[in-house]
Amino acid sequence: MQSQVYVSNHPLVRHKVTLLRNQETDPKKFRELLRELAILVAYEATSDVAVEQVAVTTPVGNATGEKLQERIGLVPVLRAGLGLVEGIWNMMPNTQVWHIGLFRDERTLEPVEYYNRLPVSPTVDLCLVLDPMLATGGSAVATIDILKRWGASRIKFLGIIGAPEGVERLTTSHPDVPVHLAALDERLNDIGYIVPGLGDAGDRLFGTG
Ligand code: PRP
Ligand code: URA
Repeated sequence: MQSQVYVSNHPLVRHKVTLLRNQETDPKKFRELLRELAILVAYEATSDVAVEQVAVTTPVGNATGEKLQERIGLVPVLRAGLGLVEGIWNMMPNTQVWHIGLFRDERTLEPVEYYNRLPVSPTVDLCLVLDPMLATGGSAVATIDILKRWGASRIKFLGIIGAPEGVERLTTSHPDVPVHLAALDERLNDIGYIVPGLGDAGDRLFGTG
């Protein structure tokens, strides 16, 4: 199966990613930019969502319209993935939000799972995994492993900045999962941070750095 990796080339996305990267950007502005970028990446990532026809009455007549048919689940990876929820959720208020808690072990860089309250069987048709950073890819792969074990059949990964190493690991482990990013950076450094990246997304989002 050919993997699908989409990196936005939209000027607005490039503009906002630049502001997000800036070390002078404070947590309030960082949150706002993440929220806006999440909407822009989700707009592109949901272009193939199934719709069904519905009748709608306007003030001047009848029209045939469309409504989203698929049940969509947002799956933010704690903590930093929380920054991508609000904007998408406001745009698609009927989506469900299911949290997965993972942190990277600083020594091994491998993900450690600490939160998962998924119900017994899937309640959505399409899962959008939300995490701003795709570094080694360990967290994304582990989250998608969890969702597949749950029974999710259609999954997409939505991130803001990816490293080539993470994209490679994710698309090799899960070639059926499309990857949508706002930017694809150069590489990882020797402690697993994306270069040039934006630093620690969770710390910058929550002001804990
Ligand atoms: C960050 C980020 C991803 C992960 C990416 O989370 O939000 O989840 O690192 O790295 P990977 O691709 O190498 O797995 P972190 O573990 O720092 O936790 P936090 O969001 O709670 O700060
Ligand atoms: N997690 C982050 O928050 N930033 C990185 O550059 C890599 C992992």
